[in-house]
Amino acid sequence: MVASEVRALFAVASRPEIVSLAGGMPAVDALPLDAVASPVADLVTSRGSVALQYGSAQGDPELRARICDVMAMEGITDARPDDVVVTVGSQQALDLLTRVFIDPGDVVLTEGPTYVTAINTFAAYQARIVHVSLDEDGLVPESLRETLARLATEGARVKLLYTVPTFQNPAGITLTAARRAQVLEICRRAGVLVVEDNPYGLLSFTGEPVRAMRADAPDGVVYLGSFSKTLAPGLRVGWALAPPPVAARLVLAAESAILSHSMFTQLAVERYLATQPWPEQIKAFREMYRDRRDAMLTALAETMPAGTTWTRPEGGFFVWLTLPPGVDAKAMLPRAIAARVAYVPGTGFYADGSGRNAMRLSYCYPPPARIQEGVRRLAGVLEAEISLRRTFAHEPVIDVPSQ
Ligand SMILES: Cc1ncc(COP(=O)(O)O)c(C=O)c1O
Repeated sequence: MVASEVRALFAVASRPEIVSLAGGMPAVDALPLDAVASPVADLVTSRGSVALQYGSAQGDPELRARICDVMAMEGITDARPDDVVVTVGSQQALDLLTRVFIDPGDVVLTEGPTYVTAINTFAAYQARIVHVSLDEDGLVPESLRETLARLATEGARVKLLYTVPTFQNPAGITLTAARRAQVLEICRRAGVLVVEDNPYGLLSFTGEPVRAMRADAPDGVVYLGSFSKTLAPGLRVGWALAPPPVAARLVLAAESAILSHSMFTQLAVERYLATQPWPEQIKAFREMYRDRRDAMLTALAETMPAGTTWTRPEGGFFVWLTLPPGVDAKAMLPRAIAARVAYVPGTGFYADGSGRNAMRLSYCYPPPARIQEGVRRLAGVLEAEISLRRTFAHEPVIDVPSQ
C-alpha cells in the first residue's frame, strides 16, 4: 500500500490562497441543511431505538428498496432489494468485491487512466492491473479484445473489468451506447465480470440520466452506487447491486469487515429519500456543476497555450488535460503550487507510470470565478514551462574535454 498522490496533495491544496482544481470533493454547501436536519431529528425521536441499534451486514431493507427506485432512473428496473448490499460508501463495495474475487496475481482490467483509489484497492490485494485504452468515446472495445487475447496467451487469470463508464473519474468521458453493448459482449464471451462504478450517473448536464450498463446485463455486471455525489459523502452510504451468488459473498465479507453498517446513517438516508424532494436537489446539483464545467471550459479555451488539449464532460466533476509533448505535469506541480493553483498529475491514475504529460482538473468544488482564476494561473505556469523548455532546447551543447 502507498499513499495516493491525491491524498498527499490535500494538505497543501486546502490552504485558502491556493485554488484547488485537485480534489474531487462535492459542493455540499449547496445542500440545504434543513433537508437533512429534519429527517434526522425525526429519526432520533420516532425510531431512535432502531437507528441506534446493530443492523444486518446487508443493510436496512427499506433503504435497499429505495436504492432500487434510485437505480430505476438509470434504466435498472429489475433490481431486487435482496440483491443490494449497502456499504460504507461505494469504496467499501469495491474493497469487498476485490477481497472476494482477487487472488494475488489475478488480472483486473481498467481504463487507462482510471480512478486512483480503485488502483490502490486492487494493488492492496496484489492484483495485476492492466490498462485498456480510453478515447473520447470511452473504453476502446478493440483494445479490450486485444488485451484479453494477449493475456490469454500468457495464461493470465482475468477476473474483473473495472470501469467508470459514465462521466469518468478522472477523464470526464462517457462510454457510448454502441460501445457499451460491445464491451458487455466481449466480457461475456471471455467470462470476465464487469464492475460498473457509477457515482456520477445522475449528474448529467444534458438532463436525461445515462442508461447504466447493468440495465442490459443483469448477470454479467456488478453495479456500484453511492449517495456521496447526489446527497453527501459524509454519510458514507453506498451500495453494490450484484447477481445473487455474488451478493451473498459480499454480505459475508461485509460481516467480517464491519459486523453491521451504521443503522443511523442508513436510516437518515432512507428518511431523506422518503420525505425530501431529492430529484429536485439532484437537478440543482446538476445545474450548479454545469455552470462550473462551463466556467472551466471557457477559461481553458481562452488561456491554454497551443498544443494543449482537454476533454469536454457531459456530466460529473472532471476534465482531463493533455499537455504539449514533453511537458511533465508531475515535475511542474511545485511551480503550480507556488503560483497558487493545484491539480492532480496524470501519473496517479495509471498503475504503470503513464500519464506524465496529463493532469486531472476538477471543477466541482470552487465557485466559477475561482475556477477561472485557477485556470488562468495554471496557463501562466504552463506558458513559463514551455518557454523554459524552448530555451534549453536551443542551448548549445558544451563539449567538456576529458581530463
Ligand atoms: C469513480 C469513483 N468511485 C468511487 C468513489 C468513492 O465514492 P464513495 O464516497 O461512495 O466511497 C469515487 C469518489 O470520488 C469515485 O470518483
